[in-house]
Amino acid sequence: MDRYSGKNVVVIGGTSGIGLATAKMLVDGGAHVLVTGRSQAGLESAQKELGKGGVAVSSDARSLTDIDALASRVKAEFDTFDLLFVNAGFGLFAPIESTTEAMYDEVFAVNVKGPFFAMKKLAPLMNQGGAVVFTTAVSNVKGMPMLAAAGATKAALRSLARGFAAELLPRGIRVNAVSPGPTDTPSWGKAFPDKGMAAQLTGQMSEANPMKRLGTSEEVAKAVLFLGFDATFTTGAELPVDGGLTQL
Ligand SMILES: NC(=O)c1ccc[n+]([C@@H]2O[C@H](COP(=O)([O-])OP(=O)(O)OC[C@H]3O[C@@H](n4cnc5c(N)ncnc54)[C@H](OP(=O)(O)O)[C@@H]3O)[C@@H](O)[C@H]2O)c1
Repeated sequence: MDRYSGKNVVVIGGTSGIGLATAKMLVDGGAHVLVTGRSQAGLESAQKELGKGGVAVSSDARSLTDIDALASRVKAEFDTFDLLFVNAGFGLFAPIESTTEAMYDEVFAVNVKGPFFAMKKLAPLMNQGGAVVFTTAVSNVKGMPMLAAAGATKAALRSLARGFAAELLPRGIRVNAVSPGPTDTPSWGKAFPDKGMAAQLTGQMSEANPMKRLGTSEEVAKAVLFLGFDATFTTGAELPVDGGLTQL
């Protein structure tokens, strides 16, 4: 029997990068996976990659109306489910002096408010013994230039993981976080449309990493699956997948 056969999974932000890699591994292991995203092109290509084991649903992680609709869709699709991977988010790269109120509000809406209300609406549909995984980032424990606001959002998310873990313990639901270091995903191209700039920055990130490279989406995905299904005595924790960046 496949490792994840009979498991139902929701991946918020699952049409690209880390979320898509996780969804693919789950589908390959026999799970049914619902992924969300906003861009139509992303939804279509994710649907193609996931095939019959997956369903790609348009949903804006910042919108409470969309989160309500998502909960109804999840109920219709699965009734109840086993793993919630709250992964939608982004690193706002901006120095303090050029960060506007709109940029600040946006990064907090996607990285903090969305995950909070997704938990409010989706946790009631989770099975006893289920698990939640949040995607934080190394910037929540390391001071990094241009990432002050984004780092603060991920620190808030790390804190939410602890609070939700305590609150959901009586229902047998574990809540943990995976904390990627710089990881080779399409997000770099989105943050830096100038290819030269993206290459320069990822080069610098590789050089600064103890392992002298970026991580891969698949390396983060494996940690998500570990926290989701294997780490049965672990809750409220954060697992770094960062080449040692926050530890060495
Ligand atoms: N890559 C890194 O170096 C790195 C490092 C540390 C932490 N992280 C974190 O890892 C997570 C995944 O990042 P990634 O690098 O895999 O990014 P990615 O390739 O850009 O994928 C992000 C996914 O989230 C979705 N998404 C983004 N905003 C959304 C919104 N408002 N509503 C619904 N879906 C949304 C995207 O779809 P649409 O764009 O179509 O909405 C996409 O499916 C993020 O939380 C990020 O902060 C990444």
